Amino acid sequence: MTDKNIVVLGGTGKTGRRVVNGLRERGAKVRAASRSGEVRFDWDNMDTWEPALAGAEAAYIVDMQDKPGASDAEGLIRDLSKQAVYLGVRRLVLLQARVTEDVGGKSLIAGERAVQESGAEWTVLRPNWFAQNFSEGVLLDGIVAGELSLPAGSGREPFVDVEDIAAVATAALLDDGHAGQVYELSGPRALSLEEAVDEIARATGRSLRYVPVSHQDYVAELVSFGVSEDYAVFVADLVAQIRDNKNATPTDTVERVLGRAPRDFSAFVRDVAPTGVWNG
Ligand SMILES: NC(=O)c1ccc[n+]([C@@H]2O[C@H](COP(=O)([O-])OP(=O)(O)OC[C@H]3O[C@@H](n4cnc5c(N)ncnc54)[C@H](OP(=O)(O)O)[C@@H]3O)[C@@H](O)[C@H]2O)c1
Repeated sequence: MTDKNIVVLGGTGKTGRRVVNGLRERGAKVRAASRSGEVRFDWDNMDTWEPALAGAEAAYIVDMQDKPGASDAEGLIRDLSKQAVYLGVRRLVLLQARVTEDVGGKSLIAGERAVQESGAEWTVLRPNWFAQNFSEGVLLDGIVAGELSLPAGSGREPFVDVEDIAAVATAALLDDGHAGQVYELSGPRALSLEEAVDEIARATGRSLRYVPVSHQDYVAELVSFGVSEDYAVFVADLVAQIRDNKNATPTDTVERVLGRAPRDFSAFVRDVAPTGVWNG
């Protein structure tokens, strides 16, 4: 048990709310901060930063690089880290992505240097695509509709369960031995989109299919739904990382950090199917 005081930025999101739960289970005093969180925190309003950070010994940081619109992630994280250290926050755990090349003109690891140069103890998490994208994120609508169209070809991705990301983040926030580490976090097995959709189809008894589409057609489809061209290209480029097997090799990091195997995609599907979230 611990009585550490910790702020979780993005504390209502897919990883953040599980980090909040993990920390509370260990007795930490935690506040979930976001625009709609227990404590109001808005990246676009610096006046909200100090009340969110003050009094915390450690902070979990989720940036907005995967959201539409331009943002200077490195600059924002640099300013936030500086303020955090000034206010006495000694440890920063930053969520980024296992995508090291620029995607649609954005870097998904832009904040790393900022925390590394902050003067705080830092840990960086670089996860693969989340399994929960199928149940809580961008891939859910396609599954519910019965057809998931993506420009991912037959590329493979070792989807990581966000419970594992949260468990690693919780350890990095509370325990020693994680400072200065860049953790690449994957699931235990790389699947193609077709295999992933087939697993969900079998577990739900629904007829579901994955339809590989071209990069161009996918961008045009997103734009026809009102998505800006820039953001559509960003999303398509992100999916192309799967198509091109950029991060298809599983890592052993979850096992090294947690002392147990990462959760398999089948276990994720087995747990989610009975909730009915995938029923059309
Ligand atoms: N999805 C994936 O497969 C994947 C894979 C690798 C890495 N990542 C990384 O994961 C991060 C996204 O994390 P996530 O999946 O936990 O996101 P999420 O579920 O969409 O949650 C985003 C969190 O940020 C908060 N937020 C959004 N805009 C904000 C703003 N302007 N100011 C303050 N808080 C804001 C949201 O709460 P409010 O709406 O209440 O503000 C929410 O708590 C990105 O950095 C992305 O690169 C994602």
